[in-house]
Amino acid sequence: MSNHPRNMRTYEEEINNFKWEISCKELGYNEGDVINIGEYCSDRICRMGKADKLALIWEGHSGEEKRYTFNDLRQLSNTIAHFVRGLGINPGDRVCLFMDKVPELYIGFLGVLKSGAIVQPLFSAFGSESLLTRLDDAKTTAIFTQKKHLPKVRNILKDLPSLKHIIIVDDDASKPLRECEVAFHMDTAERIDHFDVYPSKAETPSVLHYTSGTTGKPKGAQHVHYSIISQYITAKYVLDIQDDDIYWCTADPGWVTGTSYGIIGAWSNGVTQCVLDAGFKAETWYKFIEKHKITVWYSAPTAIRALMKEGNEIIKKFDLSSLRHLASVGEPLNAEAVIWSKEVFGLYFLDTFWQTETGCIVVSNYPEMKVKPGSMGKPFPGITATVVDLNTHVPIEKKGVVGMIALKPGWPSMIRTYWNNEVTYKGKFKNGWYLCGDRASIDEDGYFWFVGRDDDVINTGGHLVGPFEIESALLEHPLVAESAVVGKPDPVNMEVVKAFITLKPGTVPDKMLELEIMNFVRKKLSALAMPQEIEFVDSLPKTRSGKIMRRVLRAKEWGEEIGDISTLENDM
Ligand code: PRX
Repeated sequence: MSNHPRNMRTYEEEINNFKWEISCKELGYNEGDVINIGEYCSDRICRMGKADKLALIWEGHSGEEKRYTFNDLRQLSNTIAHFVRGLGINPGDRVCLFMDKVPELYIGFLGVLKSGAIVQPLFSAFGSESLLTRLDDAKTTAIFTQKKHLPKVRNILKDLPSLKHIIIVDDDASKPLRECEVAFHMDTAERIDHFDVYPSKAETPSVLHYTSGTTGKPKGAQHVHYSIISQYITAKYVLDIQDDDIYWCTADPGWVTGTSYGIIGAWSNGVTQCVLDAGFKAETWYKFIEKHKITVWYSAPTAIRALMKEGNEIIKKFDLSSLRHLASVGEPLNAEAVIWSKEVFGLYFLDTFWQTETGCIVVSNYPEMKVKPGSMGKPFPGITATVVDLNTHVPIEKKGVVGMIALKPGWPSMIRTYWNNEVTYKGKFKNGWYLCGDRASIDEDGYFWFVGRDDDVINTGGHLVGPFEIESALLEHPLVAESAVVGKPDPVNMEVVKAFITLKPGTVPDKMLELEIMNFVRKKLSALAMPQEIEFVDSLPKTRSGKIMRRVLRAKEWGEEIGDISTLENDM
């Protein structure tokens, strides 16, 4: 147990006294003021006397290291903002960041926001088609990328009339650039010491994160600059980050955890954070913690289970005694993993629950609260959360009964809409509650217990993938007639993608074809979306109106009751 006094008082005290105004006050924000996330995370921290404090310790996959102070953050984000403005990009235009976890991604995030543009981070492992869908929907004006990802952007440029600028952050002039491509080197560009930060207000759009649903294309969850009020205080209370901490959030900023808590949370608190731009390997991770003396570690269940699988012996090779606080997000954190972490690190991984749409942690375990392994904990003070009846959407009073997780709207980092899709956004609210789309129950002590999602979205290793997007990609394969995609259980990733496919007449399935189709999806979408298994079938279960019933296929994979199949047209 840590001797550090905690940032948060006991849960009981906090729940009775918490107000979001506390966060506003600490950040120096008064209603109606200018508020810009880029400025709050760099210039404001420098004004607090921390200009020379380390903000970012970055390590690449071959062990190379770069370090940036808060003054570097301030000047380099100015440099990027100045560059963006110089290209003629207007406030409100969408600027995509499509890069690995390089420093330009983190500092570029602040820079784009300082320019007044909306930042659209996208996972660099996305293939051309995943990229196209999201850039086309947002009508994105500019994209920052790396040489290695440039071919994916070039591939789709002809279909993106709005995309005017491709900015390459590591161009080495070995090949000529094409029209609308430009090289920009953050570390060697002339530093801009003073920049007129865009005077955004609380409701000015800031970040656009794409998230997958059951049907239709991925949706752009639109955040505003005021979200920092939630992200700052939840990072402070739940992740307990303090001035002398060395913080590590393992998430990629292509996803919301990597921005809310991998950029804004730490830097708005003026805390040093580490980034490891390398794939997962237990030894590399432990070495990273030891080397940088990481104290607070925010990770995900799939990574924790993967570490568990590597065993306890390897842990003994490293000095991990710097760790004082651990938290997890993204998928159910099983009790075994929580108990294991206490055994090997002397600390529980505290489970936190939230979504792209909520922008901040909404249900969680807290430093001074009793841990019930397997439970997501209790609502963050300032958030009213409950479970509601699946049909009436009325809160369920009886303890232990499963309902849908529902939140009272109104906290600062709630998304304001889905980009160009107000109808779907409105559809998320029922009976005055925002519905998360997840099922849970609440026990007699007020702890939430996750049960499952309420839709067909697949959560693989903490990343949501939409079955519709994968099914559409599958249908583009010349030999595929029909497809249905569901999650199937997996011991490490919780779920992996499984596709059921009917082939065009006369096609005989074999192993080669299976591999070819898998690769086809990986290239178009991403490795996450690639089916780990394909089952070739003669027909798919459908309703009488012809809709494929994924529910039936999913139930079979999970060994669950199929439920009402009275509308089923055919037998599998
Ligand atoms: O289904 C829940 C699951 O991840 C979903 C949100 O995914 P996304 O918008 O990509 O954001 C992920 C990171 C904030 C939720 O609707 N989820 C998230 N945290 C947990 C979880 N499921 C169970 N336990 C959690 N702690």
